[in-house]
Amino acid sequence: MISFSHVYKTYRGNEGRASHALRDVSLEIQKGEFVFLTGPSGAGKTTLFRLMSAFDRPSSGVASVAGYEIAQLTAATLPHFRRRIGVVFQDFKLLRDRTVFENVALPLDIRGDTGSSLQRRVMDGLDGVGLAHKADEFPESLSGGEQQRVAIARALIHKPGLLIADEPTGNLDPELSAEIMNLFERANAQGTTVFVATHDHAMVKSRAKRVLKIHAGQMGEGLWVSP
Ligand SMILES: Nc1ncnc2c1ncn2[C@@H]1O[C@H](COP(=O)(O)OP(=O)(O)OP(=O)(O)O)[C@@H](O)[C@H]1O
Ligand SMILES: [Mg+2]
Repeated sequence: MISFSHVYKTYRGNEGRASHALRDVSLEIQKGEFVFLTGPSGAGKTTLFRLMSAFDRPSSGVASVAGYEIAQLTAATLPHFRRRIGVVFQDFKLLRDRTVFENVALPLDIRGDTGSSLQRRVMDGLDGVGLAHKADEFPESLSGGEQQRVAIARALIHKPGLLIADEPTGNLDPELSAEIMNLFERANAQGTTVFVATHDHAMVKSRAKRVLKIHAGQMGEGLWVSP
C-alpha cells in the first residue's frame, strides 16, 4: 500500500546549505496494516505525512502510495490519487462556513455525487462517529473532539483504502484521544490501511500496533529509544 525507497526530502538553509528533513527513508506498509510513526519534535513526521499525502514531493528516491508514484502525479492524476486516500490533520481543517453535513459531503461533492444516495451516505458517516444530531451545526459550535470526529467522517466518506493522519490527537485530552483511536481501529478492522504519525507515547503504548520510529530524518527501529 505504501512503499518508500531511499527517499530524501531536502531543504535549503539560510546560507544555501542543504538540510535533510528525511534522509534515505525506506519503508513498506502492506494493505490492511495499522502503523504508528513516532519520533521527537522536528524528526520528520509531518514531512513524511506530507509526502505520503502528496502535499509535497520527495527531493529524491521513490515514494509509492496506493498504486501511485508521488513524484509522477500530475494535475490529471492527482484527483484519482486523492480518491484513494483519506487525510486527517491535528487542527481538523474543517471549513468554517460549511455545516458539519457539508464538510463531510465535500469529497463526494467533488466527485459529482448528488441526491438521496449522497444524503444517506453522509448521514451514515456521521452516525458512525456519533454525530448525526450535529449535521446542521457549524464546526465552531462543536468541541475539539467532535470536530475531529467530523474530520474523520469526512476522511472516510469516500471509502479510501488508506487513512493517513498527522498528530490527530495532538489537540485533544487523553479520553478524547482514545475515542479517536477507537475510530481509526474500527476503520482498520473494516479493511482500511491506517498510518498515524504521533508523539503521544502513552497512546502508542496502549495499542499493540506496528511502530516505526524516526529521528533526525532517519527511519528505523534501533535508531531511537523512546523515553
Ligand atoms: N518548509 C520547510 N522548510 C525548511 N525546513 C523545513 C520545512 N518543513 C520542515 N522543515 C524541517 O524539517 C525537519 C522536520 O520537520 P517536521 O515538521 O517533519 O517534524 P515533526 O517530526 O513533524 O515535528 P513535530 O513533532 O514538532 O510536529 C525540521 O528540522 C524542520 O525544521
Ligand atoms: Mg509534525
